[in-house]
Amino acid sequence: MRSIALLNQKGGVGKTTTTVNLGACLAKLGKKVLIVDVDPQANLSVHFGVDIYNLKYSIYNLIKGECKPSEVILRTYSNGLDIIPSDIDLSGAEIELVGVVGRETVLKEYLEDALVQYDYALFDCPPSLGLLTLNVLTLVREIFIPVQTEFFALRGVSKLLNTFEIVRKRLNNNLQITGIILCMYISRTRLSKEVVGKVKEHFEGRVFNTIIRKNVKLSESPSHGKPIISYAPESYGSEDYMSLAREVIRQEDLKNPCPLEHSSHPYQ
Ligand SMILES: Nc1ncnc2c1ncn2[C@@H]1O[C@H](COP(=O)(O)OP(=O)(O)OP(=O)(O)O)[C@@H](O)[C@H]1O
Ligand SMILES: [Mg+2]
Repeated sequence: MRSIALLNQKGGVGKTTTTVNLGACLAKLGKKVLIVDVDPQANLSVHFGVDIYNLKYSIYNLIKGECKPSEVILRTYSNGLDIIPSDIDLSGAEIELVGVVGRETVLKEYLEDALVQYDYALFDCPPSLGLLTLNVLTLVREIFIPVQTEFFALRGVSKLLNTFEIVRKRLNNNLQITGIILCMYISRTRLSKEVVGKVKEHFEGRVFNTIIRKNVKLSESPSHGKPIISYAPESYGSEDYMSLAREVIRQEDLKNPCPLEHSSHPYQ
């Protein structure tokens, strides 16, 4: 069982798109997958066509201890792919949790046991390093960092890495950064190529070979409530995310992936 947070506190870099489509491709390759929407924006839930205004339970209720995992997990029309949806109530959770004893571990407490029935659990984090994100980082064992191939790609990465180190020391010794995913690549531009070079230099050996190209079908698919492999199976986007899913599965052959080293942070 692999539990993975898709994390980057920078907004709009491809976290949700990657969670949806990586999840759907892993399921197509025969894995049992749970995707969890931990963002009050609920983009992931909408991307899956979930009617977020008429939900009985969302991740908010789970975090509050108001429902069981089995009551909040929804089956999707994709075989082997389940989802825990979010809704706007979750935006209040950060504040509501502040006074709770063990506030960083509530998600772990309520959800951990339910994860064993899956091969993969992917968590779509909000674009912040607040309490919701800390709850995810306390629960999962791995982090994938989607990075947009643009000028400010590595801005804020230093803060992200510091948060990772603190969580690893205090809350979750098992946590590792096991993959950097390059997203929204435009092959025509020199800038995209330069950014790929810089990211590979910074995260030596941790960057997936698959690069997710910019593809208009990927930006259209949320409004159709479908992952790319259902909406446009012949598109570049579909090809790229299937390739990423195969690479993620191949990681399992690495018996003992070494944790990411980052003694210096050249990018602030
Ligand atoms: N490879 C791609 N090609 C084209 N459009 C993309 C691609 N990846 C993501 N997008 C689009 O870019 C926008 C931002 O992507 P996404 O929502 O996945 O980012 P995010 O990191 O989850 O954002 P947030 O921080 O707000 O949660 C969306 O409109 C999405 O459809
Ligand atoms: Mg998102």
